[in-house]
Amino acid sequence: KETDTDMWYTVDAQPGETQILPGEKTKTWGYNSSILGKTIILKEGKHMHVTLKNDLPVLTTFHWHGLNVSGPYVDGGCHAPVYPGTSNEIEFTVDQPAATLWLHAHPCPETSEQVYKGLATPVVVQDDIESKLPFPRNYGVDDIPVVLQDRHFHKGNQLNYKEDYDPDGVQGPTAMINGTVNPYFDVTTQKVRLRFLDGSNRREWRLHFDDDLKFTQIGSDGGILPEPVEFTHLMMVCAERDEVIVDFRGYKPGDEVHLYSDDVPIMTFKIHEFAPDDTKLPDHLIDMPPFAKVDKNAPVHKAAMSGMDESVEINGKKFDMQRIDDRQEVGKERIWEVSNSNEMDGGMVHPYHMHGTQFRVLSRNGKDPYPNEHGWKDTIGVNPGEVVRLQVKFDFPGVYMYHCHITEHEDGGMMLQIQAY
Ligand code: C2O
Ligand code: CU
Ligand code: CU
Repeated sequence: KETDTDMWYTVDAQPGETQILPGEKTKTWGYNSSILGKTIILKEGKHMHVTLKNDLPVLTTFHWHGLNVSGPYVDGGCHAPVYPGTSNEIEFTVDQPAATLWLHAHPCPETSEQVYKGLATPVVVQDDIESKLPFPRNYGVDDIPVVLQDRHFHKGNQLNYKEDYDPDGVQGPTAMINGTVNPYFDVTTQKVRLRFLDGSNRREWRLHFDDDLKFTQIGSDGGILPEPVEFTHLMMVCAERDEVIVDFRGYKPGDEVHLYSDDVPIMTFKIHEFAPDDTKLPDHLIDMPPFAKVDKNAPVHKAAMSGMDESVEINGKKFDMQRIDDRQEVGKERIWEVSNSNEMDGGMVHPYHMHGTQFRVLSRNGKDPYPNEHGWKDTIGVNPGEVVRLQVKFDFPGVYMYHCHITEHEDGGMMLQIQAY
């Protein structure tokens, strides 16, 4: 239901069965669906009334990853349990730029298993600025969410999270794209917009197409990039979103173009008809506000990530829901220094994520951030030995989590809490 100012929506976490592979159906969980869910479309300025319904046999939470909302109850981390057979009501006003966000389960420490079973779905924010840019936006036709996950299917095509458990993150040998395996998509010779979401527990995706086809990134986690960035290869870490435009004009009907991660084809685009396309991407997409001046006397906040396996920590600590680890004043820009210690055996990339904010990247090891890190972000890959500097502002008071988004690291305690006041 929708009026000019308000919109009502129900998200029902439910068990189901999904035909993912030939043969037996896989037991899965989803939002209003047997696995994942239909993309939730939010419009900037609308006041949302959302019913969060739990039809699962266990407690879950509904976390709006990337959504700038007021406080932990709406944000949906561990602080907002929804018990089996019950529902919670939340309200929020959509007040942030057009972007691809996502909704996922976040009960601590069961996030990994619930997301693995299918509790994740894209959330798209629309606004008046993005809608005037010359991007494909016919949702499901030339504007497609691509949820990247990997799974290990056991006998009878079933998932077995406990058996596959790895404290450094569960990985599976099979790429699962939008809840399907080896999907193909019919396209024309026009441009297509792909909204990639790395929804896997641990895996990094190294994306490229046949013929080293160039594609253009137009958006990052929290919005449209100020300038488009061209790639032939793009790496994504857990929980990141990258919106890209792929130009199929060089192909003809009957051609097939594969998308790969590393050397494995994960998805096929079939060119089924010719269609003219003379749209051009502008060199400049949106204006980012100038960087705010940060008070020189304000303390620099630190998040030092370290460890592997069960030893993962931030600032030498493990998560405790009863403890507040840091405080920051609402409405003030502050510097965060996020580091990843260099472990003896090489270490891992930790995707660092903050709730309750979209941040900006100031630097990587004192140098400019990557070209596709000039827009709004809520998750950033930090390599072993690296230090990234972020500019962070909270708009609403409340307690928010910040953590590594390898979900098994998060469940293993690589997560702290900040009070915005
Ligand atoms: Cu994607 Cu704590 O979240
Ligand atoms: Cu989040
Ligand atoms: Cu980690």
